[in-house]
Amino acid sequence: MKIKNNKLFLGEFSAESLVKKFGTPIYVYETETIKEQYLKLIKNITYPKLKIHYACKANTNISILKLLQKLGSSIETVSKGEIILALQAGFKPEDIIYTSTSVSRDEMIFVVKNKIKVNLDSLSQIELYGKMNSGAKVGIRVNQGIGAGHHSHVITGGVMSKFGIPLEHLDKAKKLAQKYKLKIVNLHQHIGSNILDKNILLKACDKLFETALQFPDLESLDFGGGLGIPYLSTEKDLDLETLGLEITERMNNFNKKYGRELDMLIEPGRFLVAQSGVLLTNVTEIKNNPKRTFIGVDTGFNHLIRPAMYGSYHKIINANRIKGITVRADIVGNICESGDVFGRDRKISCPKIGDTLAILNAGAYGYVMASHYNSRLLPKEILI
Ligand code: LLP
Repeated sequence: MKIKNNKLFLGEFSAESLVKKFGTPIYVYETETIKEQYLKLIKNITYPKLKIHYACKANTNISILKLLQKLGSSIETVSKGEIILALQAGFKPEDIIYTSTSVSRDEMIFVVKNKIKVNLDSLSQIELYGKMNSGAKVGIRVNQGIGAGHHSHVITGGVMSKFGIPLEHLDKAKKLAQKYKLKIVNLHQHIGSNILDKNILLKACDKLFETALQFPDLESLDFGGGLGIPYLSTEKDLDLETLGLEITERMNNFNKKYGRELDMLIEPGRFLVAQSGVLLTNVTEIKNNPKRTFIGVDTGFNHLIRPAMYGSYHKIINANRIKGITVRADIVGNICESGDVFGRDRKISCPKIGDTLAILNAGAYGYVMASHYNSRLLPKEILI
């Protein structure tokens, strides 16, 4: 994303020219940003046996999947649909991990048939899988009581979370695995999403090292995703440099204790794609009400639900005139609900009807969470 002549550019193209060619609403993603984020991870986490599994729930655009596959990423999936997309994008079954919850028998049959690696999330999943694929190598997802994240909806560790096998049930999990001759070779955790404090992530890693000592056959440890990005201008980037150094050192120390060098798996979703994407939308009306000004646009929470669902902040700019006389307004969508608000009381360069607004950091959990609510079409997507 660049600003030239007071206008927004995405790659080499002005937002104006993209809108002219493709129309709005449209998600535009930049290849360069995804590459940069991927390289940041590799540069900072120098552990030699690091494997990045892109958590594709963040964005399953097929061109983005292909791009990450070419960059050398593996992939993390949660459904049959995501597995199909991953295979279509060129990922090999051995590069795909499936970690899901409330899994149906049919979906598990599909996973087994396609030889996809699994992290089993519950005792009943171990039974279900064990009956279908006795003798296999598996991972299990543990819930170690540590959770974090930008909103209670995305905290995935702790007593209130449905995810993972609690530590108190690990003996049962081992017994069930034995019953079906399953070899537990991977221990997985994911504590939550959009975490900017490296210390929370490290604390959860330490707990996983401790738990891992109970499992003699491990080939890898999977620390999940959760790496955050700054949405607010007051937020700082995650200190990836220190995190990378610390986790590598702690992994090396663990290996010495464990007696073997394990693979280190991580599953970033948001970190790789959030900043690559903007949602471009045109201003359709401006209401100067006595007490509030509303700027209405041709998209809504059916296309980007994060503000309505989590109260998430996404910066919004006027792509046609980044700087200019400003107005304070609520930026609202075209869905018939009062909660269809992208931002309250935003200071923005005064738009005219027909101007394009850019909703920033929309590359993760944007299009993938879109719906047809109000019988509106889905937005378009392009990758530059
Ligand atoms: N691994 C597992 C097992 C996960 O459940 C998730 C996300 C990730 C990896 C990737 O997490 P990330 O690196 O993106 O934080 N819709 C919400 C986020 C939900 C995250 C769900 N699980 C949002 O818009 O903030």
